[in-house]
Amino acid sequence: MLWLPALIIWASVSHSCGSDLQFPSWFKFGAASAAFQVEGAWNVSDKGEGKWDRLIHRYPEMITDGSNADVACNSYYLWERDIEMAAELGLQFYRFSISWPRLLPTGFANNISEDGKNYYNKLIDGLLEKGIEPIVTIYHWDMPQMFQDLGGWANPKISDWFAEYARVVYSLYGDRVKNWITINEPLVDCDFYYGEVLAAKQEHFVGPYMCNKNVLLSHAKAYHVYDQEFRPKYKGKVSLANHLVWLKPYSNSTEDQELAEAARQFLTGRYTHAVFSKEGGWPSVVEEAVAKASKEQGYQDTRLPPFTQEEIELIRGTYDYFAMNHYTTRLVRKPRSSEEIVRSLFTYVEDLDAVLEMDPSWPVGYTWYTAVYPEGIREQIAWLKQQYGNVEILITENGYSTGGSNLDDDARISYVNDYLEQVLLSIEEGVNVTGYTYWTIMDNFEWTDGYNSKFGLYEVDFSVPERTRTPRKSAQYYAQLIKKRSL
Ligand code: NOJ
Repeated sequence: MLWLPALIIWASVSHSCGSDLQFPSWFKFGAASAAFQVEGAWNVSDKGEGKWDRLIHRYPEMITDGSNADVACNSYYLWERDIEMAAELGLQFYRFSISWPRLLPTGFANNISEDGKNYYNKLIDGLLEKGIEPIVTIYHWDMPQMFQDLGGWANPKISDWFAEYARVVYSLYGDRVKNWITINEPLVDCDFYYGEVLAAKQEHFVGPYMCNKNVLLSHAKAYHVYDQEFRPKYKGKVSLANHLVWLKPYSNSTEDQELAEAARQFLTGRYTHAVFSKEGGWPSVVEEAVAKASKEQGYQDTRLPPFTQEEIELIRGTYDYFAMNHYTTRLVRKPRSSEEIVRSLFTYVEDLDAVLEMDPSWPVGYTWYTAVYPEGIREQIAWLKQQYGNVEILITENGYSTGGSNLDDDARISYVNDYLEQVLLSIEEGVNVTGYTYWTIMDNFEWTDGYNSKFGLYEVDFSVPERTRTPRKSAQYYAQLIKKRSL
């Protein structure tokens, strides 16, 4: 039953974008998901509560369709079908995440869940049996609620607790997993969660910056645990995945160009400079701007918690490659006089007083923030090289969302095709981009947008208990692309 609709559509679709741009033999293709968005089984066995479980159950009105992730794609039970889909697509790797409260129900490393441990063992082994490499994200936003009650990323102890969790993960799965992402998109987890969700009434950024600092320390400690205790025998790679919105100046004026560069340091540099730059620490433009704004606002100290020299050294260089999530671009400008500012992620840069907006000529996917500007990925990649040298870059997320039930998703196909074309141009320009990950293998719980936004190569029917997965036209396109290795 499960297979029938899938096969019919699989056979009837044939799409080619007609060009023959070839990918180098070493370039890898994959797709991604994240535990909270697909697993469901939110309170099954001894799983602990995560911060998004609590948030959604307490404030269901925050989710646009009033839904929750209690069942989601039910991947906790349907993992074999997920592996089958990865194989149908011909993925070379599948990026998924481990749920911290599923593996460690209390958050602490002294209590490992047998069921949690076995679930990820089955997933990893099943992928490897099909020749698909697992790329594992250790944390994709599901902070144990027990720790969130203590401040979560704002609590300085969190970096030790996270490093202990990472040690458990490496020791359980490091013999088979060779590519690790410690933390996914700290920008969204810190700036959105602490800036808009938790501290909505806070006038200025305090929580997001505390989170920002501790998340970097947490990543660094987890990196060192791998480096010192596991790398010698397992020889894997570790990085953290950042969400990079490419920021273009609104005009060619020097003022706009400088503002755009400062905004890049605020939105990207705040989470990358400490790790990837030669000097480490905060970007100086961020330090200066937050200190100035804090003073003007009458705070005793800057709201940006400083790093000690020891902390700078601890974090600097803790990467084996650059993991980049990229979807979209914004134009940067100063607010106009008497302009009403929307203070939220991707619309306004706090402490820089910079407005981010879409160019009206760019099409927008179903999800509010996803303006389509394919050249942005190439410009973003070039900036990374200019900032941090010729580091290996793995695109760990890129994708397009539609709304409603829609198997004929030509817009998604064009998006992937056009973005990948720009990636190929980057490679031609000599940037070391080694792979591409489509977000996401199947429709899933899109955080505050519930099941409204659909990013999947496979459509999931959330109205039936089977959570039937059906390939879209884009699944066929992506499978062919991977097979031919050309656009
Ligand atoms: C980034 C996040 O990592 C992922 O969880 C989210 O679903 C996608 N972007 C799409 O918004």
